[in-house]
Amino acid sequence: MKNKEMLLIPGPTPVVDDIYDALASETMAHTDPRFVKIFENSLQLTKQMFNTDGEVFVVSGSGTLAMEMAIVNTVAPGEKLLVVSHGYFGDRFIQLGEAFGIEVTALQAEWGKQVDAEAVRAKLAEGGYKAVTVTHVDTSTGVAASLDKLVPVVKAAGALFILDGVCATAAIDENMNKEYGSPDYKIDVVLTGSQKAIGVPPGLGVLAFGPKALAAREERERIPAYYADIKNWQPIMQNPGKYYATPAVNMVYAFNKGMEIVMEEGLEQRFRRHDALGQAVRAALTTYGMQVLAEEGAEAPTLSCILYPEGIDDAKFRQMLAAKGMIVAGALASLAGKAFRIGHMGNVTKEMMVEAVRLIGETLNEMGYEARVDTAVDQFVSVYEGNLKM
Ligand SMILES: Cc1ncc(COP(=O)(O)O)c(C=O)c1O
Repeated sequence: MKNKEMLLIPGPTPVVDDIYDALASETMAHTDPRFVKIFENSLQLTKQMFNTDGEVFVVSGSGTLAMEMAIVNTVAPGEKLLVVSHGYFGDRFIQLGEAFGIEVTALQAEWGKQVDAEAVRAKLAEGGYKAVTVTHVDTSTGVAASLDKLVPVVKAAGALFILDGVCATAAIDENMNKEYGSPDYKIDVVLTGSQKAIGVPPGLGVLAFGPKALAAREERERIPAYYADIKNWQPIMQNPGKYYATPAVNMVYAFNKGMEIVMEEGLEQRFRRHDALGQAVRAALTTYGMQVLAEEGAEAPTLSCILYPEGIDDAKFRQMLAAKGMIVAGALASLAGKAFRIGHMGNVTKEMMVEAVRLIGETLNEMGYEARVDTAVDQFVSVYEGNLKM
């Protein structure tokens, strides 16, 4: 492993050597047939991952660009967008929609809780909503949205279902051909970034548009975007040998390798592994007297927001962990200082997470708080193994 530190923030996530090696390969011309083949392969794998009948887009930029592309191509200025928000990143769609003159309404959950699907149904019953955004996992809270509850409600109202998968894709199912209770109740757009559960460094925005979302773009002659206009990217994604804007050649190498790793592990196995990792991390850390912010049933497989026991100084705790080579993130907004966020996604291993549980316990002990490290590690291992066997 080239990594010197355990990067357990909610993304970027630890990068494995094969991906670093791909990233460091010699830069080719973006029109070189060898590069075009790699780009095509990565798009094919992305299409398989989302199981979409539509089209996928891989562009240079971060997850926020992907959010913007999802909105600006589907919802016109003056049209109505409903934002279902479980935290900071859900809320970002409010500002984003408003920046494009879209009429935004938001349903915001108390941090740690899910938005009630009945409230979404009631809001949509007011009529006229073109699309609804749902953040699959909100990275600020570690709350996962329930697609089983939300997709049918949104689709029954005739709106497009736009899913922010930045903190979920490749760890939780985002199958765009899955029918949620009726043949045409499907996810219309998934947007994501390269740097979280896909396990690649930051730098690429990734999107999948299903047929209805593509049709929404087709209906309009112009949209208020140029780089973010999928019409400009469609010819490139169909034939990556064509030029529109120079692709991040080395990031595409890395992304292709990352997607190969995802598909070699197998989606089902990858989803199971993340589920088991999430459950095991939470079970272990609660033995230290810590609490999980996310309400029961809404805990994300990819990251957890963990409330400190009384008297633990956040900055000191994270500094001490960093000195041991393990990096976690602080919490946002009103939770700052009261909680930390730990990622357990991408190409992290059981061994890494066991080490994380151990280091957290040792740090708590050094801070004068009694933590039973062996009990926590045993708990981690038994919950992890138990879940993988299920
Ligand atoms: C759920 C979610 N959506 C969107 C974003 C924005 O992505 P980026 O920071 O890559 O622009 C993030 C970033 O962490 C995120 O976690």
